Amino acid sequence: MKKLVAGNWKMNGSRAQAVALLTALSQKIADENLGEKTDICVCPPFPYLSLTAEKLGSLKSSEAIILGAQDCSAWGQQGAFTGDVSAAMLSDIGCRYVILGHSERRGYYNESSLSVAEKIRLAHEAGLTAILCVGETQAERDAGVQDSTVVAQLRESIPPCATSENLVIAYEPVWAIGTGKTAKPADVEAMHALIRRLLQEKLDKCAGSRILYGGSVKAENAQELFAIANVDGALVGGASLKDDQFLDIIRAAS
Ligand code: PGA
Repeated sequence: MKKLVAGNWKMNGSRAQAVALLTALSQKIADENLGEKTDICVCPPFPYLSLTAEKLGSLKSSEAIILGAQDCSAWGQQGAFTGDVSAAMLSDIGCRYVILGHSERRGYYNESSLSVAEKIRLAHEAGLTAILCVGETQAERDAGVQDSTVVAQLRESIPPCATSENLVIAYEPVWAIGTGKTAKPADVEAMHALIRRLLQEKLDKCAGSRILYGGSVKAENAQELFAIANVDGALVGGASLKDDQFLDIIRAAS
């Protein structure tokens, strides 16, 4: 399966930094033909999406870097929802992916899996591929309930319209995000196998969905992670803001 490496910029950067990062990435991705072997996606903050779409259009590797967003509205495609951005708008400006159900949104905004399911439905209606994030907290892992937590998130967050083509899963243990701690390879392998089994047995339209790992992925640990069965790519936060780090992760996937 072709791996996917997606960069989640979160609430970071500026116009100038976005342009500098895209220019550096694009040059190397084109020179080394990295997009042939790996799907590469960047997910900037909303205000820089259009800029990124325009910039990518004028750069060498324009088709090799796919545009994604970090969230979308759960309320619809248009209407009186102050502050919201709809999936249709994201699609309209050139996004193809949208990250949904990230633990920072579940945590800070109390997003429920039911709301995430509605966002995924709207994303699909707009023609986007959803990257659904799931993962346990440290307390849940300490209590040994990581499997049931992740299974419940998947069962509640995946709407009937999801398929292997329009849904990507990102397993991101919450305690590994932005902390420098990565899950042990054996734990990653076990969780990814569990997710694959659940998809095959209970959500068979998504049996072939890519399953990414996320949580302190960096150039130093990417190769080891990508060698694990059912790790079909990575969702990268901090390291996606540094062109050399992000490129090394992409190279490790290729
Ligand atoms: P991190 O973030 O790579 O900075 O840990 C990953 C994520 O939140 O998607």
